[in-house]
Amino acid sequence: MAFPATRMRRLRRTAVLRDLVRETRLEAADLVLPLFVEAGLDPAHPRRPIEAMPGVERLSISEAVSEAGEAAALGLPAVLLFGIPADKDAEGSGAWDDEGVVQLATRAIKDAHPDLLVITDVCLCEYTDHGHCGLLRSDGTVDNDSSVELLARTAVSQARAGADLVAPSDMMDGRVGAIRTALDDEGLGDVPIMAYSAKFASAFYGPFREAAGSTPAFGDRRAYQMDPGNGDEAVREALLDVQEGADLVMVKPALPYLDIVRRIKEATNLPVAAYNVSGEYAMLKSAAEAGRIDERSAVLEALTSIRRAGADIVITYHAKDAARWLA
Ligand code: PBG
Repeated sequence: MAFPATRMRRLRRTAVLRDLVRETRLEAADLVLPLFVEAGLDPAHPRRPIEAMPGVERLSISEAVSEAGEAAALGLPAVLLFGIPADKDAEGSGAWDDEGVVQLATRAIKDAHPDLLVITDVCLCEYTDHGHCGLLRSDGTVDNDSSVELLARTAVSQARAGADLVAPSDMMDGRVGAIRTALDDEGLGDVPIMAYSAKFASAFYGPFREAAGSTPAFGDRRAYQMDPGNGDEAVREALLDVQEGADLVMVKPALPYLDIVRRIKEATNLPVAAYNVSGEYAMLKSAAEAGRIDERSAVLEALTSIRRAGADIVITYHAKDAARWLA
């Protein structure tokens, strides 16, 4: 029945009615907070601000433990750890060092806050001196299969340190299967893989690269990360990761790729995570700081839209603020 019998505004009349019929809810329990843990920070200055990401800092291990405690107290289920090692080399050996910064931070966080989930980023770019996500051949291209071996070694080392989930973000082919096999062989068959399945070569990672010191020394990542124009290919990537044993799949960035979130949710029926990346964060923070937008309502609207698109989990630097606003 059309107007005047049907009046859509009837259910919008009061806050309680709107709440009753709201289709998508946002809760602290849906949000994951990324943390940057840096090795060898001067104990007198254990937090280093990241200029392009106001409110986000690189943390010493003990500061990461207290930040994790704050996250848990706010009702966030998980943190996602990125490491900045003291030294970088051609192979990114800090990534699979059992005493590496992420491994040490994982142990310390799990000791202090056993119920908080620790997810570890599995990639080489924060650990390589050239900033690429895998091993380089002499011609400067990234070699897939030798990189996969090192990524699997990294995941095993992180899982042995106590990581609850491992999250490969490198975009090498076959890494999910290799990581699954390596974990199973080491008796770590219970550790799930959250695969960055559709990770696009995006300008929105800019601030992260400042934070992690992982800007490629030459070239770009377009020979391994996805072309922003491709949706069918993103679905294929996700389905391949499912075949290889991914337990959760991820789309990244989030806001410019909400159609991909929806398609991957429908194609896989797996839990889907979307990563609201550094550039998305920086945009809202900058606009809010300039007084051009109301931060709280813009952030909650953006995060809700990611959930509405089909994401079960939203990884976001806004997680602590959002949890406070939603409490
Ligand atoms: C790579 C990685 C990146 C991000 C997460 N994992 C950067 C990249 O691919 O250059 C970006 C996250 C963000 O921008 O917030 N290990």
